[in-house]
Amino acid sequence: MFEIKENFALKNHNTFGINAKTKYFVFCNSENDIKEFLNIHKNKDLPLMILGGGSNVLFTRDYEGYILHPKIKGIETIYETKDEIEVRVGAGEDWDEFVGFCVENGWGGVENLSLIPGNIGTSPIQNIGAYGVEVKDVITNVEVIEIDSQKRICYKNEECEFGYRDSIFKRKLKGKQIITYVTFRLKKQPIFKLDYGNLNEKLMEYNEVNLNSIRQAVIAIRESKLPKPEEIGNAGSFFKNPVITKHKADQLKERWPEIPNYKVNNNLVKIPAGWLIEKAGFKGKQMGNAGVHDKQALVLINQGNATGEEIVHLARNIQQAIIILFDIKLEMEVNVI
Ligand code: FAD
Ligand code: EPU
Repeated sequence: MFEIKENFALKNHNTFGINAKTKYFVFCNSENDIKEFLNIHKNKDLPLMILGGGSNVLFTRDYEGYILHPKIKGIETIYETKDEIEVRVGAGEDWDEFVGFCVENGWGGVENLSLIPGNIGTSPIQNIGAYGVEVKDVITNVEVIEIDSQKRICYKNEECEFGYRDSIFKRKLKGKQIITYVTFRLKKQPIFKLDYGNLNEKLMEYNEVNLNSIRQAVIAIRESKLPKPEEIGNAGSFFKNPVITKHKADQLKERWPEIPNYKVNNNLVKIPAGWLIEKAGFKGKQMGNAGVHDKQALVLINQGNATGEEIVHLARNIQQAIIILFDIKLEMEVNVI
């Protein structure tokens, strides 16, 4: 049976640490709990949103509706050969605990995605990525319950329309489905991906290159630049890295020869938004109770008692400055509620 709490405080349920409330908070431990709740929610008297670990949301006001929190647990082996294993994981499992579990078992594929906060069920939504790996590389399918019909639907990897920080769940299916399980295929003879940034260099500090040392190196790099949400409220990168035409990048290079850029294809390049924000003078700056992290300019932070609106105000100022300076529109990665 699902459990409902009324006038529920969300401060401990969003990594920005915003002091907001929801009219109702619904804990669901199983698919049946979700279906039972959806049955009584049929008349849709109030809006409904889903919340996992709250590490990619920004509340700008109290939520006048139901927030459903899927807590479905469990890791089940679907099949196993000498080379690979497929596991089906409940949406409510913690992402990084799952990564730790895979590394302990010698299953490769997710080690570069160590220390990303949030839940399993959310990992496909923005196709979480870090250190040269995206979760789409290991997902085989995503199971959902459709909110209107309460039907179970299973989307195969190729149906998820995965892209950079993007998927069908953020677009066509946004607000229409609740992700319940994700199935991953992992390798028992892993192929290491070590070419992102200074990962290879960091690994020199370890005796051996294996799943565990890669996990430890990724954690060490992340801890050196990303603020811990328990200490400083944040939601990781606030904006996506913009993808622009090569032609436009060449024009920018005339004025800023040092501008970093990564090839996407023959016509498109990705520019690190952190560089643009730093160049625009925002790194380490504060505006009201909102700020820009001093070690990673792509991360907006809650300096203490920031409201969601203060963070959005700072974000809009940054967007405006980047348009004026570089003629680039930064798109928010965080879901503003
Ligand atoms: P939430 O914030 O709870 O939800 C995000 C969105 O998904 C919301 O719109 C919500 O309605 C929807 N949603 C949640 N669960 C479900 C469900 N079961 N069904 C349907 N909809 C649902 N991301 C990266 O990709 N790479 C990184 O390296 C990275 N680093 C980060 C570092 C820090 C310090 C922080 C705070 C965040 C970082 N993030 C990163 C962002 C974040 O961790 C991921 O986006 C993560 O997948 C969010 O998971 P969550 O459960 O907290 O999602
Ligand atoms: N940079 C600066 N100044 C800064 C920050 C970055 O100049 O203050 C430049 C540097 O040139 C640096 C480059 O940006 O080499 C890339 O920086 P970093 O490796 O820190 O990565 P990022 O592009 O800022 C992306 C993801 C992160 C992910 C890291 C590692 C996005 C929006 N962000 O950040 O994901 O952890 O790469 O792979 O793609 C998240 O999505 O929440 C997130 C944290």
